[in-house]
Amino acid sequence: MTGQLHVRVAAKVNLSLRVGPTRSDGYHELATVFQALSLFDDLTARNAPAGELSLSFRGEGAGFLPTDETNLAIRAAKAMMERFERPDVGVELHIDKHIPVAGGMAGGSADAAAVLVACNELWQCGATPQELAKIGAGLGADVPFSLLGGTAVGTARGDRVTPIAAAGTYYWTLALAPYGLSTPAVFNHFDSLVPEPNHPQLEPELLHALESGDLDGVAAGLTNDLEPAVVELQPELGQTLACGRQAGALGAVISGSGPTCAFLSSTMRDAQRVADALSAVNGVKAVRTASGPVPGAVVVR
Ligand code: C5P
Repeated sequence: MTGQLHVRVAAKVNLSLRVGPTRSDGYHELATVFQALSLFDDLTARNAPAGELSLSFRGEGAGFLPTDETNLAIRAAKAMMERFERPDVGVELHIDKHIPVAGGMAGGSADAAAVLVACNELWQCGATPQELAKIGAGLGADVPFSLLGGTAVGTARGDRVTPIAAAGTYYWTLALAPYGLSTPAVFNHFDSLVPEPNHPQLEPELLHALESGDLDGVAAGLTNDLEPAVVELQPELGQTLACGRQAGALGAVISGSGPTCAFLSSTMRDAQRVADALSAVNGVKAVRTASGPVPGAVVVR
């Protein structure tokens, strides 16, 4: 059994996030397009004595994250032990974080996805990608996409994912806020603004634009039903979105439940120009550039 391995996992942005009614399980029905971006968390996983699960972090927001059983990464390792009935194993997890914490980019789900892949390999569980996606869906709605990566449509809670053959490369600028937003709080606020949402549907124009690599079409289709709720909770984000557009971004959107703002460009040079403009904006803590699509959680050894 290999003693140690390294898994790299990407952040996500939602190109379209359509939110529908609340389901009986309390989640909202979603129709979304995810893209995995080259902003990564790096997991090192080492075998540990039976029953021992430990977690440490370094990097972005590390000091604010719990390292006990409330962390999705530990819950992912436990889920693998339980599903594969492995009381004989343990794991030491260390995560180098670059994905913003509580930023709307699936950082916690990405880490859980990385842990599923690492434990599957370290403990030789032999789970198929479909089985990992099923275990992941039990942990969080974004985990199946974090496993898959690329560009994909998400339905149901966002956890039923189907890859799309998106043509071309998409260059992104990400404006990070100096605070996080709680996903349940944003969905609750959405409920108060939109008490009776329609069944969520993606625009066929966006899917066609993705398939043909038409970046202007993709930019025109960037949309997020949570945006009014997010901007009402943090009004300065409206200004951040406007500044990126003025700086030449083809399109701008709040990523997931925010507060990260994502800006689309057709070249890395343009994305960098948008980044330079945004770094001077009040309320922007840091700026990153990234490209997509990239793969989901992968073992890099
Ligand atoms: O699945 P995850 O733990 O990432 O979801 C966090 C929270 O976001 C949920 O508890 C719920 O409040 C909200 N959510 C939702 N509908 C979804 C996904 C998330 O209401 N489809």
